[in-house]
Parts: sequence; C-alpha cells; structure tokens
Amino acid sequence: MSEDLQLSTEDKIALTGGKDMWNTHDVPGQDLPAIMMTDGPHGLRKQGDAGDHLGVHDSEPATCFPPAVGLSATWSTATTGAVAAAIGREALAAGVSVVLGPGMNIKRSPLCGRNFEYFSEDPHLTAELATAYVRGMQDLGVGCSVKHFALNNQETDRMRVDVRVDERTMQEIYLRAFRSVITRARPWTVMCSYNSVDGTLVSQNHRLLSEILREEWGYDGVVVSDWGAVVDRPAAVTAGLDLQMPADPAAEQDLREAVAEGAMDLDALDRAATRVAELIRRSTENADSGATVDIAEHHRVALDAARKAIVLLSNDGTLPLAEDDGDLAVIGHFAATPRYQGAGSSHVNTTKLSTALDALREKRGADIPFASGFVPGEEPDEDRIAEAVDLARSARTVLLFLGLGEDVESEGFDREDMNLPAEQIDLLQRIQEVNERVVVVLSNGSAVLLPDAVRRAGAVLETWLLGQAGGEAVAEVLLGEVNPSGKLAETIPERLEDVPSYLHFPGEASQVVYGEGLFVGYRGLDARGTAVAYPFGHGLSYTTFAYEDLALVAGEDGIEATLTVRNTGDRAGREVVQAYVSVPDSAVPRAPRALAGFAEVELEAGAEERITVRLTREPLEHYDLASSAWVLEPGTYRVEVGASSRDLRVAAEVEIEGSRPLPPVTADSTLEEITRIPGAEQLLASLGGNSAMLEDPTFLKMAEQIPIGRISSLAGVSREDLQRLIGAVEQLRQDAATS
Ligand code: BGC
Repeated sequence: MSEDLQLSTEDKIALTGGKDMWNTHDVPGQDLPAIMMTDGPHGLRKQGDAGDHLGVHDSEPATCFPPAVGLSATWSTATTGAVAAAIGREALAAGVSVVLGPGMNIKRSPLCGRNFEYFSEDPHLTAELATAYVRGMQDLGVGCSVKHFALNNQETDRMRVDVRVDERTMQEIYLRAFRSVITRARPWTVMCSYNSVDGTLVSQNHRLLSEILREEWGYDGVVVSDWGAVVDRPAAVTAGLDLQMPADPAAEQDLREAVAEGAMDLDALDRAATRVAELIRRSTENADSGATVDIAEHHRVALDAARKAIVLLSNDGTLPLAEDDGDLAVIGHFAATPRYQGAGSSHVNTTKLSTALDALREKRGADIPFASGFVPGEEPDEDRIAEAVDLARSARTVLLFLGLGEDVESEGFDREDMNLPAEQIDLLQRIQEVNERVVVVLSNGSAVLLPDAVRRAGAVLETWLLGQAGGEAVAEVLLGEVNPSGKLAETIPERLEDVPSYLHFPGEASQVVYGEGLFVGYRGLDARGTAVAYPFGHGLSYTTFAYEDLALVAGEDGIEATLTVRNTGDRAGREVVQAYVSVPDSAVPRAPRALAGFAEVELEAGAEERITVRLTREPLEHYDLASSAWVLEPGTYRVEVGASSRDLRVAAEVEIEGSRPLPPVTADSTLEEITRIPGAEQLLASLGGNSAMLEDPTFLKMAEQIPIGRISSLAGVSREDLQRLIGAVEQLRQDAATS
C-alpha cells in the first residue's frame, strides 16, 4: 500500500502529529484526508469545535452503553462484541474513523479512579473481552485504540509516575491482555500511556513501543499518544511512536529542527508517517457516508448488556419482588438521578436515559412513592432524611439506591478509600430501624466495602455503572422479569488493607513499585487465604445450577474442559461457568488458581447442557525469565470449574507434555540445570578428579544449586576438563532443542 506514497519530510512531520484536538493532518497531494478519532469506549463522544479531552464540553448525542465495569460483569464476549459493533455503527454514521478504546488496564487497586473504564483485575477476562470488543468494532471498518499501553494503573500523578515492576509480573499480568488482543484482533491503533516505566516515559520507551509491541508481538498498526503524553517528539518518534495527539505546533517544530540538524533517525520518521498514512487509507476505504443508526435498536443493545451486568451479591429471598409483595418505597438519590457512567474523557451525552424509579412506576404503578434521602456531595439534610425514614416506615419493602458520586470517582484522580459515603450508611441504618425489608441497590464504578448495615439488607444488587438503559434493567431484575446473571470481575474485599497492592499504592515521589508482584487481586488474596466479602467471579441468580461430570482433554492448544450444567431451580437463567487452573508442581511461583476459561450458558428451568470450556495455551503458560519466552511447562494441571473463584464445584487433573526450556550452558549453570539435559549426566560421570561424588544422590541434592564453574576446586576437576564439559553439554542442549 505504501509504495505509491511520495511523502516529503514536511508531510511526514505533519502526518505524525494531530491537526487539532481529534483529527490527523491531511496531505492533499497524496489523497490523504484528515481522519477523526473520538473517545469511547462505551459510546461515541464526538465533539464540535469546543473540544477537550477531560469530558468538560458536551458532545453529540450517542448511545451510552455500560462502561467497562458493567460490561465486564456480563462475562459475555458476545454481548461485548455487540456493544462494540453498535458503537462502531454510530462512529461510521458520524464519520469517525477510530474510537479511542477499549481501556484495558488491569485493576491493580480498587482505588484507581478510572477503574470504571477498565475490565478486570484478571488478565484473561480482560483479554477475552477486549478481543471481542476490537473484533466487534473493526469488523465494521472502524478502528479501535486499545489503551493505555502500558502499566497505567492509577490516576495519581499519572503523567509522571514511574512504574517499577518485575519482568514476569509485567508480562503475565500487565501486558498479557495487550499481547493477546494485539496478536489476535490486530487493533488499528494502540494508545500509549502517560506514565513512565523503568525511568522512561512510555511515549519514548523503545523497549515497550518497538521491542515488545512490534518485534515480539508483530504489531504493524499505529501507536498514538495519549492526549498530551509526549514530552520530546523526536525521542518519541525514534522510540516507536507514530502519532502525537492532539496538535502541538511546538513539538512539530522540534521535530523539524531535529531533522534539519541531522539529529533524527529518518527511517523512524518514515516508518511512523507511512503507518499513519496507511491508517488514513484504511479509514477512507472503510468510510460509509450513507451509514445510518437505529437509535432505538441501540438502546435495546444497551439494555441487553445492562441486564446481564447486574450482580446479585446476596439475597435472603426478598428478591424478586412478588406481585403481591405490598407497598414499595423507593428511596435514594440514584433511583431518580442515576449514576450510569464515569467522569472524564469517556463521558457520553446520551440519546435517552431511563431511571429505575420511572421504570418501576411504569411496571408497578405511578403512585410508588419516592424520597431522595441524600444528594451526593451535599451535607446531610435532616428534613430529607426524616422524609425518607417516614416513607420507609409506611412501606412493606424499601428499595434503597446507594452509591458513589462523580465527585469521588473519576478520571484524573484516585479514590481515597473504598467507603460508601457515611451519610448513606446512616440513612440505611435509620431506615432499618423502622423497616427490616430493605433491598440495597448499589451504583459505583469500582468496588466499595460493604459495612454490616448493607450485609444485613434482605438483598444487595451491585449494578456498577449501567449506561443509559440501566434504570429499566434494574427494575426488571428487582421484579424478576430478568434473572440476574452478572458476575464480579473484581473482588470485593473485607477491608482495603487486604488488597494485595495496598502497601504499594500509589507510591511516592513519582515512583510506584508493584511490590505485590504477580499476586494482584484474587491471586494474592487466595495465596494468603484472606477472607473476602465477595470473591472474584461471584454472582447469584434466582435459580440454581448444578455442575457435573467434568472431563478434561489436553492437547497442543491447551485443555478442553467438558461438563454438564443443569438448571436445578424453577426459572430460566444464564450462568457464567468459570474454569480456574493450578499447577501444583510448578517450577515457578504461581497463584493458587487463575482464571483460564469461561463460557455462558442459558438454561430453562430443569434443563441441562453439556458444554465445553476451552482453556487455550495463553492462560496456562508462564513467562520464563531464563529464556525470556512464554513456556507451557510439563506436568499435572488441575482444573476447577465453578460459579466463582471460591465456589468451585467440580475438579479434575490432566497431564500436559509441555516443555521446559533449557537455558544455554555456561560456567554459571547449576548442576540441576545441567542434569536436565538428556545425556549430560553420563558426561558428568566421565569427568576426572573426585567427580564420582557427583553420582552420589545425597551429594547431588546438596550440590544441585552449585554453578558448574565452581566445582573445579570443590571436586578437583581441572579447568580444561570443565571447559570441555561445558562445551559438550551445551552441544547436547542445542541438539535437544532442535530435535
Ligand atoms: C485519556 C484518554 C482519552 C484521551 C482523549 C486522555 O486524557 O487518558 O483515555 O482517550 O484523553 O480524550
């Protein structure tokens, strides 16, 4: 595609930077028009002239789908793909070429202010949902920008903070989902993050942008900067950044001067400009000026996703509300003024907005009384509280809508704690003094702690942020028209202090050390056996499911887990079946279990189905530090399948052939490493000196960790013999590796 491009240096400089807030530069002589990018990720945020990237100015009306926090609670790749396709259609109709999403950073801490825009604390769930999102949108000819690459897991000091993380954790937890989506779904663009990694801004980080992304993963799309992430444009282009956004005339001038002074790698500039030109061509080829949007249909897509996203945390039988349940009282600001999306660059101007109060009144009678009880961000008001308590006293059942306001949870800053506002808990307690039948409905963009008063409630629905159709979905679940089936994509801990990253978040002096390593979220909580309020994967239903007859088959591509799921209750429902894997004899530290596959199944009351959950290689592998490669180690793999990470119903084990890489043999290789090479033991035995002791099993056990180079004096082996041995064993290793 690029052979016919005749780009001057000036064209290249222009192409590698934005023209304004949302458009690329055009190069008229080359038939390269400007193309537009807008936020995402849960709806289109196309702005007119007054553009900004912090959600300050309004945008054209668009369907607001559940943000990632809600979407991920569906655990549904089909639903995620359908939502992305609908956003893609709205983008096509609006002449937008690239949607800036999905956000796929790992929820390292529940305090991250932007968790509502991310999928999960788990890389596998993130990888599957993000892949479905990118495929769903790009199949229509609209590009995605997976973001924020990489290690952007907090808002505190987000433009400066330097992340220090060990290699294996970086690969397995924080890059894993990016690698998966990039190699499988090939997003048109990747957005680099604001922060630094290992002392270098990501926008100038050659290792991340060129070595890992391009050389290791084979990425050939465009790397776009997060808005304002570039400090040194020539350095960024040299490191592998293709497109700086938004427009920055001073940075353009820097690049011009660097070229004039001969200080610029011209090949790097050429590569970047060519990739942007290819993106523009691809966009114009896919543009569809006749595309139209069925707004009513998109509201239905948003509603379907919202229905599946609601998580029933607890239920003593109060829900679903029966027809003859008696008088209802709806209390809480969020019932009438829903919190349905997060604040910041992803803020969507909806086409329609349903409230739970309106939906309940429509379904159960216009006379259902309402009292707000509180207004987020405002001081408690005695009259308002008294009105709510009076209402609660006269009702049979209270539906109490609690949650977080945008003032505590947004892009740009982190939360200070995980608490629901104290005045909301006080209100709940005062209501519970006059009415014990209280259902709590929560709206929040990241996990909140559940104090005793909430746990005493008859039922608790965690509705996260549900987009513009959330009100209808909540009413349907409360009334039993829809059976709840959402599952937690993030753990709800007992205490903030239990969260594995607690002692290492958000760092100090512009540096954060990911001290908990691999043990993020449930991985760390399970490793320590810490009690949680609700585990990763949890979510109840109005029906019940039995899991039976698990059979495993291992092959080259991973494991197929086949089992029977039976609806043992009296109503139809959807169940998300989750498969966790552990490797009991692993050669490396691992979490006690990690999500490796999941599947959704819809079953009528009493029905059963034999389903297969595929555990691909990716979540089974680990990143081997010695060989800097992904490895599927040989041995026994235990697969546990159930309804949550702590409600595992069936388990089985299977052997995997796998392979353990044999690192090159040097004087620093240990005896244990050497004896893993076929034929090496015989060579060892043929050494002179006291090497007979190497055949003694007790000695060998003691000596396993001694580097071979050190046995010269210990076993009386001459240096020459040792050198010969190392050479011969290295040859054996190479033969074994190629055989
Ligand atoms: C956010 C990005 C967003 C961009 C453009 C930045 O502040 O971090 O996620 O896409 O602005 O609005």
